Amino acid sequence: MSRLPEGKCKYKIETYGCQMNAHDSEKLAFMLDSMGYIEAGNGEELDLIIFNTCCVREHAELKVHGNVGALRKRKEEDPNLIIAVCGCMMQQKSVARDLVKKYPFIDIVFGTHNLHTFPALLRRCLEGEPVREVWEHNDALAGSNLPAHRKDGVTAYVNIMYGCDNYCTYCIVPYVRGHERSRPHAEILEEVSRVAAQGYGEIMLLGQNVNSYGHGMAEEWDFAGLLEQISRIEPVKRIRFMTSHPKDLSDRLIEVMASNQKVCSQLHLPVQSGSSDVLRSMNRRYTREDYLRLVDKLRGRVGEHIGLTTDIIVGFPGETQEQFLETLSLVQQVRYHAAYMFMYSPRQGTIAAQMPDQIPEAVKKERLHQLIELQNSITGQIHQGLIGKVEPVLVESRSKRDAHAVSGRTDAGRMVTFPGGDDLIGKMVPVKITQANPNTLGGERIDEAF
Ligand code: 5AD
Ligand code: SF4
Repeated sequence: MSRLPEGKCKYKIETYGCQMNAHDSEKLAFMLDSMGYIEAGNGEELDLIIFNTCCVREHAELKVHGNVGALRKRKEEDPNLIIAVCGCMMQQKSVARDLVKKYPFIDIVFGTHNLHTFPALLRRCLEGEPVREVWEHNDALAGSNLPAHRKDGVTAYVNIMYGCDNYCTYCIVPYVRGHERSRPHAEILEEVSRVAAQGYGEIMLLGQNVNSYGHGMAEEWDFAGLLEQISRIEPVKRIRFMTSHPKDLSDRLIEVMASNQKVCSQLHLPVQSGSSDVLRSMNRRYTREDYLRLVDKLRGRVGEHIGLTTDIIVGFPGETQEQFLETLSLVQQVRYHAAYMFMYSPRQGTIAAQMPDQIPEAVKKERLHQLIELQNSITGQIHQGLIGKVEPVLVESRSKRDAHAVSGRTDAGRMVTFPGGDDLIGKMVPVKITQANPNTLGGERIDEAF
């Protein structure tokens, strides 16, 4: 496509949902940059807006409806404004159909599987054709090597696999992201080498279930082996990854986490519920006891300092008060550094949406409130316990609140803010923790060498 007039076409991408979506938006940004579009600054007039949607919970979908709907008047006043909607919501036929019916002024609809075709879709739209094109699958991983326009920073997202075969009964992801496919390791190593050479010190490997990396591939590779290979790429300072399914966390991976200096002592290990009966109904394929044994093993091999985080759903269909109390007691026992906590949201097409005994909203709300209170107090205690400790921090950015301070993460993934200048961004520095806030830590840089 011919380059568009320099400085004329400004775009904005609104991203909802997980890191996978955030990374897809970086790929869209790369395609737009290559076509001569420019990312709009705050409040600037737009020529193109893309909504990269999420459908994991109803709340995210409602936000998309609200924000697309709010553009109706603007589109009437400026018919040249191009409105595109993509992402997981669009992979569901009925959802995409309803959205377009409600907001016929949407110019382009596409899905997660044909993200890489966006330049051609935009070209068709510029020729005056409304575009509605959603591929049902993408088994050949077309577009997986698309470069990304990453935000300036220290952490680079890198996809290692796509889709999910687990079919947890509450979850829409396998239906919208397709079945599990691993990206060839040579491509991953090549991309990591490239971004590390560009100065990204921390690599965040992404997949719905990274622990099953390599399943079904011709060559024998597992996730632990992939991590070891990535850690040999010289400029890489740190490696993190998400998400891990507890049923697939291998001993080999735990050993690599324990022994490899570059692999951070942090693990996002979604538990979803503390009740074995609810876990069975969720099709998670582990029990409360299995999970707790795994946590013991991790703490034993990697160390007590490991930063464990989790996802928890309250109010799954049929969840009794006793079963909810089991979730609270598991949270007490594990003492996560942080947790993402959600009310169960029925997703059309999933098994759980058809289950009897859906829990009333008020009960879900009350359970969520209690769980958040408990987790906040645990996070606060863990933060207090870090006071006086010296932690290696990889500096990510200038602090949002204080122009003379910078922020970065500890090895276990806690965010620390401390006095310092931009020259520290990208560097690993020793920081003594001096202050514990509910969500972040404060500290001061010390001269100690590691
Ligand atoms: N309702 C509430 N939370 C959900 N999640 C996935 N599906 C649902 C749903 N239907 C949560 C899970 C998952 C995280 C990404 O989102 O906790 O780990
Ligand atoms: Fe959804 Fe379960 Fe797959 Fe995670 S593992 S994406 S919760 S189906």
